[in-house]
Amino acid sequence: MIMKDTFYITTPIYYPSSKLHVGHTYCTVATDVMARYKRMRGFDVIFLTGTDEHGQKIETKAKEKGVTPKEFVDSIVSAPGGVLDLWKLMNISNDRFIRTTDDYHCKSVQKIFKKMYDKGDIYKGKYKGKYCVPCESFWTDSQLVDGKCPDCGREVKEAEEEAYFFRLSKYQDKIKDLLLNTDFLEPKSRVNEMINNFINPGLEDLCVSRTSFSWGIPVDFDDKHVVYVWIDALTNYINALGYENDKYNDFDRYWPADVHFVGKEIVRFHSIIWPAILMSLELPLPKKVFGHGWLLIDGGKISKSKENTTVNVVDPMILAQRYGVDAIRYYLMREFPFGSDGNFSNELLINRINTDLANNLGNLVSRTVAMVNKYFGGKLPADQLSIPEKDDNLISAVSALRDTYTDYMEKYKFQNAVSEVFKVIDMSNKYIDENEPWVLARDEANLPRLACVMYNLLESIRICSLLLTPFMPDTAAKITAQVGSDKSTWDDTVWGGLPKEAQVVSGENLFPRIDLAKELEELAAIETELKKKEAGPAAVETEPLSEEFVEFDNFVKMDLRAVKVKACENVKKSKKLLRFTLDDGTGTDRQILSGIAEFYKPEELVGKTIAAIVNLPPRKMMGLDSCGMLFSAVHKENGEEKLELLMLSDTIPAGSKIC
Ligand code: MSP
Repeated sequence: MIMKDTFYITTPIYYPSSKLHVGHTYCTVATDVMARYKRMRGFDVIFLTGTDEHGQKIETKAKEKGVTPKEFVDSIVSAPGGVLDLWKLMNISNDRFIRTTDDYHCKSVQKIFKKMYDKGDIYKGKYKGKYCVPCESFWTDSQLVDGKCPDCGREVKEAEEEAYFFRLSKYQDKIKDLLLNTDFLEPKSRVNEMINNFINPGLEDLCVSRTSFSWGIPVDFDDKHVVYVWIDALTNYINALGYENDKYNDFDRYWPADVHFVGKEIVRFHSIIWPAILMSLELPLPKKVFGHGWLLIDGGKISKSKENTTVNVVDPMILAQRYGVDAIRYYLMREFPFGSDGNFSNELLINRINTDLANNLGNLVSRTVAMVNKYFGGKLPADQLSIPEKDDNLISAVSALRDTYTDYMEKYKFQNAVSEVFKVIDMSNKYIDENEPWVLARDEANLPRLACVMYNLLESIRICSLLLTPFMPDTAAKITAQVGSDKSTWDDTVWGGLPKEAQVVSGENLFPRIDLAKELEELAAIETELKKKEAGPAAVETEPLSEEFVEFDNFVKMDLRAVKVKACENVKKSKKLLRFTLDDGTGTDRQILSGIAEFYKPEELVGKTIAAIVNLPPRKMMGLDSCGMLFSAVHKENGEEKLELLMLSDTIPAGSKIC
């Protein structure tokens, strides 16, 4: 049996302290694109993702919720709507999913820690430093920015505790050599960051155990300590292949990893600490670490606490439900280069869907299939088909596409790869306009030429859709089916693979156009609802009940009536007053002025039936008579004044007495 070449690719394992947002989805989608591409190329791929479930932040959050840390992480990882469901929804084709709370992982971590300790690379000492509680990170003075945590900008505090240390400093020269003299870390700009910020100032030994919290893997020979984040988290990449455990046994086959995709803020851990741990364990190093950029909103990293000025729904579940999974996957890979930061907004996403997917791709497929149906009943006349020179441009562009695409994919230039495909899609749309099939169809003598034009279009669509498979797997499959092909391997991505007698099948509209203004309005409403939900129930304040009695005789003197609003308008020069013209059942209009203009638009109230007291002496307000008063319910919500007019049923006739 011939063994396939292997390809092992990983995402960072996610920290499940809250629900994942579209920024988290970014790296996993990119990894999925690469994994699918390599599978298509015939590689034996392992795509690993997972969750990094220990640490103080999780312990604290669980306590706040009154659950155990394991229950807390389960609620985010494996519960319905959690990380596992999200990856299923996003069509993520990971082969393994590791949770750092998995038994086999914990055992491996303990063995790894002991191995490094026995070797003398881990030793016991005292840690004194600046500690950022939310980030669970110790920082050296030189790393602080304005005396604050360089990651989150919050205050840090002095902390000291007994801890185990990893002799990172011992590996300084080897790491420097690795970064400077190999292609281990990409893009190259990240190498400079690492050298300038961490290597040149000198690597310090790293604190790798903690005693101040207990939600971690115990150091088995000193159980006051739990293993502190990085040896626990980073070793997932080897433990998931069976290193020091018998859950899996393909370490020798897949290690070293071909590439770790990681966000730029954890490049330091992956390009300095991780290779040093592997050097200590005397294991081969991964072939590459690729540090991608961030998805930004209004120029900042997406975070739950960020108050956004624009409409931004960042929940990938909501986005996928509204626009489809493939549209989101496409946007993430198409909008900006993988190594750089890029913007996310619902508006950018919708524009991208409308221009590229609906207008360009969707239109090309639907027009072509419709024309083959219309002119040839869904099947081209094979005996009349030949491919003349005239179409060289389109045919040669399609034929060259695979190589250009491959070149970009191999360099993780997803944006370029997918753009190349769309250039050909664009060209195919123009090819329709240039060849005017509807004109050719008018004359029977042109049928062979018309068939040839249609074949070229179908073939271009088929090849483009195959190359789009890693990006938009479902859409690509639907398109290939529509153009009458059932082939999906890499070998099928060459010109001429479509049988001349292929039967096209019209299908659903792949990407319906979205009405941007209407959609943004709906998203704004969703966002308001989400924010309300997140803020929890509003703090409502009402006035204390009165302790003073009203004489009964006085009370019955009040004449309360149902009145109908005939007209309502703002009083000129007054910000507060509304002028009501009311039907009180007497046949003569009654005028009441009420100071509720900031709560209602006048036109909203016309036709409503409301309650009024009608035997108050008339009062002048802004030069106008007010003959009575309206009733409203008032309270405060989160300190803000709220008012609602007391509305009565419209079936109550005007003038009915309220008693
Ligand atoms: N648990 C660590 C990784 C350990 S790997 C051995 C961690 N987890 S995380 O949940 O905080 O982040 C996971 C990944 O999501 C990181 O690579 C991070 O860069 C990425 N992203 C989080 N927000 C992001 C954006 N807004 N944009 C792009 N990627 C982002 O770090």
